[in-house]
Amino acid sequence: MEAANRIVAEILERVVEKIRPGVETRELDEAAEEHCRRLGVVPAFKGYRGYPRAICVSINEEVVHGIPGPRLLKAGDLVSLDFGVKYNGYYGDAAITVPVGEVSSQARQLLKATEESLYAGIAQFKVGGRLTDISHAVQTVVEGAGFGVIREFVGHGIGRSLHEDPQIPNFGPPGRGPVLQVGMTLAIEPMTCAGAWQIRILGDGWTAVTQDGSLAAHFEHTVALTEEGALILSRL
Ligand code: MF3
Ligand code: CO
Repeated sequence: MEAANRIVAEILERVVEKIRPGVETRELDEAAEEHCRRLGVVPAFKGYRGYPRAICVSINEEVVHGIPGPRLLKAGDLVSLDFGVKYNGYYGDAAITVPVGEVSSQARQLLKATEESLYAGIAQFKVGGRLTDISHAVQTVVEGAGFGVIREFVGHGIGRSLHEDPQIPNFGPPGRGPVLQVGMTLAIEPMTCAGAWQIRILGDGWTAVTQDGSLAAHFEHTVALTEEGALILSRL
């Protein structure tokens, strides 16, 4: 899983480097796919429940599962990339949200709060804790910054499958769910918005957008719980 996730992180970094005004989102997908070929890994999302591309590119009010295509990135956009691979039987999964050129101060604040909430969640991934300690920590940071947590999507266990038990909501009271133990591997992934948390799915059957059109953000790491504590596998 360390190897799979290192590759996820490397490819995401390469794709992030391509982000600038005037780039088509399908160019980001092509880059991700090309890196998979070069490195001999399988893009985990392509074909997953019929998802057609290697990477998800979600812009502004799009929360997750945006499908790359001819759409052009423009200055001021907030772009979430979500990407996973399968390598040697194991999965890696990570997401990052990045600004295109100059973005609004609200966008910058949403980014910062969402990334901080991911690390607050990871800080609760410790032996003897309970799963929803992670959920609660994420929600506390996001709502403390004045933003909202998406309810309809969750983090997840990950390993020999992309999505394993347990589900990890990004909200709710602490102290519930499985006891956290050495050897667990979780994909922790806050999905947030600047307004109300309700979403709807576009006609493509995939793209989740906020109902009120407010900006959304998404950060994700695959994290292993070791004797030494939480180890972020999808970070370079
Ligand atoms: N990236 C999602 C996750 O983090 C899964 C994507 S599903 C796909 O769990 F079909 F869009 F690939
Ligand atoms: Co995930």
